[in-house]
Amino acid sequence: MSSEYQLLFVPDIGRWSVVSVEVVVGVVLLCVVFGFWLAPGGLAWALAKCRGRFAIPGPPGLPVTGLLHVFSGSEAHRVLAKLARRWDAVGLMAFSVGLTRFVVSSDPETAKGILSSSAFADRPVKESAYELLFHRAMGFAPYGEYWRNLRRISATHLFSPKRIAAFEGFRRDICLKMVDEIRGLMVENGEVEVKKVLHFGSLNNVMMTVFGRSYDFDEGGVGFELEKLVREGYELLGTFNWSDHFPLLGLLDLQGVRKRCRRLASKVNVFVGKIIEEHRAKRVGGLSVNGVEDFVDVLLDLEKEDKLTDSDMIAVLWEMIFRGTDTVAILLEWILARMVLHPEIQSKAQSEIDAMVGNSRPVSDSDIPNLPYVQSIVKESLRVHPPGPLLSWARLATDDVHIGDTLVPAGTTAMVNMWAITHDEKEGLSREIHGVGHSSPLVGSAAPKLQMGSFPS
Ligand code: HEM
Repeated sequence: MSSEYQLLFVPDIGRWSVVSVEVVVGVVLLCVVFGFWLAPGGLAWALAKCRGRFAIPGPPGLPVTGLLHVFSGSEAHRVLAKLARRWDAVGLMAFSVGLTRFVVSSDPETAKGILSSSAFADRPVKESAYELLFHRAMGFAPYGEYWRNLRRISATHLFSPKRIAAFEGFRRDICLKMVDEIRGLMVENGEVEVKKVLHFGSLNNVMMTVFGRSYDFDEGGVGFELEKLVREGYELLGTFNWSDHFPLLGLLDLQGVRKRCRRLASKVNVFVGKIIEEHRAKRVGGLSVNGVEDFVDVLLDLEKEDKLTDSDMIAVLWEMIFRGTDTVAILLEWILARMVLHPEIQSKAQSEIDAMVGNSRPVSDSDIPNLPYVQSIVKESLRVHPPGPLLSWARLATDDVHIGDTLVPAGTTAMVNMWAITHDEKEGLSREIHGVGHSSPLVGSAAPKLQMGSFPS
């Protein structure tokens, strides 16, 4: 038997001992990597200190990056809903994105528990949100006195029915201007990019209520500059930033997110700071720029203990512009798109307006209670296309907390998949079940006798 042939059957002890060390180390490493990778919920969950106690089902995802790829697309809510069903984890599913631990719920009761729990009172602050000043604004300020104060001020002075009614005239002017613009563009071009008109209209709506002034968005003007700031902010907040999930990469700022955010934040400081100064200068004996107090006036009027510093005021005002612009514009766009796709619903809405308002005057706020069908269209659009269906509802566990029997460790980001909840097949909300004549539970609860054709997803 040749020595080579013999080697196939008889191990050479000397060589085997050398190979075995490498093989053993390799196998151990592989086991560790695969053990981490295959752990329910993936790497970040495998690294959780007392992981033996957690038994939240969930996909391991890719090695190291976990479900990062899911968030690079615009359909993360749909993918997570599918995964939750596949993993039998509709109530609560664990997953990782890099070193960040997540749970997501697609179940209304569990979601309610998360959103009402004081253990989830904080929101996770991404680097971009922090750099763009939002950690001092209501949406991202840590739970505590400052945050409660901001909520109280906003509830009383910005979102109260009285305040909303005070701005009706401005809203009507903006709407009439948008209608004129759409009509003009149709006559001129035979088509119109509604998205743009709605975006500018919605931005002006927020600017009126918050800053007491509206803008033209012609190139080179102040409105054009403002829109550029807002657009860049949305872009930065929407960028998937590796530093949020791989802390070491944070040192390098490879995508340049931090640099761009800081540049933008300093421009915002100048822009909003100037508006605050203008308000200060124009206020005579408490009178505001336009006679109606805007939100800047309200913040300037706050008494000692509630008083905000200028930099906090800038953060709060900037957040309102952000949160109030695309939410409204995108909802309006969906409503219009759905009406185009469902002319029968559009003509029913038109009949209701004709009957209740007539065509000699524009619709006003006081007509709304008499327009249940129009209201239902708005609610159904919110159901089928919930704005911010996933990320808007993110919370951060500040303590170890139980959700049912499951322990969620502090530091976990909890999300509610609002899209999955409003498309729950068990609740009769799936695409297949819908048809004209079906009244969805959300629509039904608001207008019990209404039979509206629900929009298919
Ligand atoms: C169609 C219109 C809108 C929709 C669908 C919408 C949706 C949302 C959602 C889903 C949240 C997160 C709720 C949560 O996590 O508990 C939120 C928070 C917030 N929104 Fe809106 N929003 C709209 C309009 C506006 C407007 C016009 C403003 C201001 C002018 C605004 C200001 C805020 C603020 C400040 C927060 C943070 C509240 C807090 O942390 O307590 N939103 N919004």
